[in-house]
Amino acid sequence: MEKHFAVIGDPIGHSLSPLMHEAGFRATGLDARYYRFRVEPEKLAEAVSGLKALGFRGWNVTVPHKENIIPFLDELTDEAGKIGAVNTVKVENGRLIGHNTDGTGFIRSIEKDIAEFSGKQAVILGAGGAAKSITVALMRKGMQLTILNRSPERAEELAKAIEAMGGEASAGELKPGAWLMADLLVQTTSLGLKGENYPFSLEGISPQTVVVDIVFREQVTPFLADAAARGCQVHNGMGMLLHQGALAWEFWWGEEAPLEVMAEALRVNPR
Ligand code: ATR
Repeated sequence: MEKHFAVIGDPIGHSLSPLMHEAGFRATGLDARYYRFRVEPEKLAEAVSGLKALGFRGWNVTVPHKENIIPFLDELTDEAGKIGAVNTVKVENGRLIGHNTDGTGFIRSIEKDIAEFSGKQAVILGAGGAAKSITVALMRKGMQLTILNRSPERAEELAKAIEAMGGEASAGELKPGAWLMADLLVQTTSLGLKGENYPFSLEGISPQTVVVDIVFREQVTPFLADAAARGCQVHNGMGMLLHQGALAWEFWWGEEAPLEVMAEALRVNPR
């Protein structure tokens, strides 16, 4: 029988997850479909029981539901619990299990450029939802974290949460120069989503620093262009998108995802 999956969010029109998963179903001959549903915040509870009633096997969760869905689930994986947000739900024997593949997806996307994570310095710009999943994953890899945010109190809060989990993190205000010692620099703020200019340059950054901007709508954001011009290895958010999807696939199907096929679907249809 055809198995059903979906992504829920609001807005949802631009989600690339259906493309990626459907391409995977076709390539592996799985009898499955992946839908995209806009769910308004006040309809979340109804949507979750609807998906369950309709026999969906699993779904992805995106903004603004990643935290709000938790009360409607039966169980969380360790990763989802630590991050406090869910991007993947699996239905197993009628129980809803919440998982989070964003942070590990991020790690997988940069792994080939970072020989050793443990003991190295990571600087994270931003302290929102995306920063949380990434910092938790980097902490689990043993990196020392510096979190910089426009509102420093939010960075403080995140650093405290990381320390409470046994990691090492300091916090501060988003200002130029703080990344000079970084082995890894990750831009997670929504600055640049609409093509705004960054309020600072990466002057003085070491060309050894791996630089990531998690925006994936643009191949090269102004931030990445600046880093590349200074000799740094750069990544946009496409790799994170791909790998969080592949990890969701593995969580649902219990087998390795057809990564190349999924990557190709994103390359052909990048928006
Ligand atoms: P997400 O889940 O995508 O991370 P979010 O939780 O709304 O979204 O967080 C957005 C991040 O972008 C925050 O770190 C925010 O900084 P504040 O906590 O100070 O709001 C950051 N951000 C948004 N607009 C910004 C701007 N114009 N300059 C600097 N940082 C900005």
